[in-house]
Amino acid sequence: AQAADREKLLSDPGVFGTFAVFAVDDAWWRLDREARAKVGEEIKGVLDKHGEQVVADLYLLRGLSDRADLMLRLHSTDLARHQHLVLDFLATSLGRYLHNVYTFHGITKPANYVPGFSDDLKAAMKTPPDPGPKPYAIVVPIRKDADWWNQPQAARLEMMQEHAQVTTPYLKTVKRKLYHASGLDDLDFITYFETARLDDFHNLILALERIKENRHNRRFGHPILLGTVCTVGDLAEVFAR
Ligand code: HEM
Repeated sequence: AQAADREKLLSDPGVFGTFAVFAVDDAWWRLDREARAKVGEEIKGVLDKHGEQVVADLYLLRGLSDRADLMLRLHSTDLARHQHLVLDFLATSLGRYLHNVYTFHGITKPANYVPGFSDDLKAAMKTPPDPGPKPYAIVVPIRKDADWWNQPQAARLEMMQEHAQVTTPYLKTVKRKLYHASGLDDLDFITYFETARLDDFHNLILALERIKENRHNRRFGHPILLGTVCTVGDLAEVFAR
């Protein structure tokens, strides 16, 4: 079977993204090692089964988060496939001990504002990320207020231009991805970042808190999810420990 085209699903518009976040019940850790040993194999089996349609990324939150242990990020062109994958995931021996603490859905879209930016800013937006590993992943759910949506496009464009001006210095160290979530859950946007530089990420957030757009954030975080990008093997190592 041919694996889904990862590059394409992670860059195309019209792709659904699901963030499914889980906490592991304490009872899991009381199982003997033998009962937990197959966790990697089972998770790999689920991801492979759906691998033709769904691109799955795994994150370890345990040890960094007080409310969640692991996160799945799924991409495909059909949300029902994410449902099937998560159902199979929940049916694994680890899955039976998981509490699904958050699920967010969004869709990727062409840029709304970038085409209206000044040429200088458009050029600055093309700064590629520095090469090298970006081990931390951060998810920030966002909901705007009614005032934001009621503004004319030109007023929003001006504010988003300011957003881009203060954020372009971070393009080298912070990779980002935006999902539009209105109607798919209680959010308007899911923002996702990868970085090796949490100090930069902190300063980036401060920069965005200081601009006019921030007056229109009805929800920013709650929760902010911080974890590390990991493989099935990494997860297995932690949960079979
Ligand atoms: C949208 C740049 C970081 C939240 C945008 C857009 C640009 C941009 C250019 C407009 C996209 C469009 O044309 O539709 C950046 C850059 C960042 C960064 C260069 C740093 C490397 C962040 C952070 C957050 C954030 C840290 C919040 C945690 C958003 C949201 C939107 C957005 C919610 C959608 C706004 C809307 O369509 O109303 N960003 N951003 N961005 N960004 Fe950022």
